[in-house]
Amino acid sequence: MENQDQVMSMPRIGDPAPEFRAVTTQGEINFPSDYIGKWAILFSHPADFTPVCTSEFMTFAHLEKQFNDANCELIGLSIDGLYSHIAWLRTIKEKIEYKGMKDIEVTFPLIEDIKMDVAKKYGMIQPNEDSTKAVRAVFFVDPRGIIRTIIYYPLSLGRNFDELYRVLIALQTADEFGIATPADWRPGDDVIIGPAGSCGTAKERMEDGDIDCKDWFFCTKKLDKDIVLDKILKKK
Ligand code: BEZ
Repeated sequence: MENQDQVMSMPRIGDPAPEFRAVTTQGEINFPSDYIGKWAILFSHPADFTPVCTSEFMTFAHLEKQFNDANCELIGLSIDGLYSHIAWLRTIKEKIEYKGMKDIEVTFPLIEDIKMDVAKKYGMIQPNEDSTKAVRAVFFVDPRGIIRTIIYYPLSLGRNFDELYRVLIALQTADEFGIATPADWRPGDDVIIGPAGSCGTAKERMEDGDIDCKDWFFCTKKLDKDIVLDKILKKK
């Protein structure tokens, strides 16, 4: 029973990221303490030497600088051993060409989690999908070590990396500018001002020429793309 509870335990948005120490392809890491002051994306994949995972690793490695420039570090995990990880990453670099990407070196850490210690802590094992392979989980952890977004995909579905980057920038924009972001938001689109907490504020907003209110509870304002990106990309 205890084991089953552990398999099913799942951190939630707003929780401190569960702590762990792990061996990785870049040496030992302590999470989240080694990453305080930076954003981190901790993501799991089902297994080394599998095609969907290979396409994802190549894409993430290809985009790593873009994520690093937004003060974000990447950390991968699968329930495989260190030597399997090393052999797989060497194969990717030496042999695999995919969608114009080749000679791709994965320089972010890949955690060995053969005992599933980390995978169980983070709810990455979802037994009705697979009891020995991690699903494709993505945890966005903020510079204070708090989980801010969680996305899960099944084994058969490769992640959308544009969306992962969009989420990272939207989270940082919400923090920096005290706003929320509407459906499909991208930098340069209008942002949402939180609901008015008093009749006075509601009235003021309806009358403010810089604020566009569809109704008193649904108000947006302009936020320039360059202002957003300057703030986020210069924070590093
Ligand atoms: C893959 O990465 O290709 C994969 C891994 C596990 C199950 C299905 C696909």
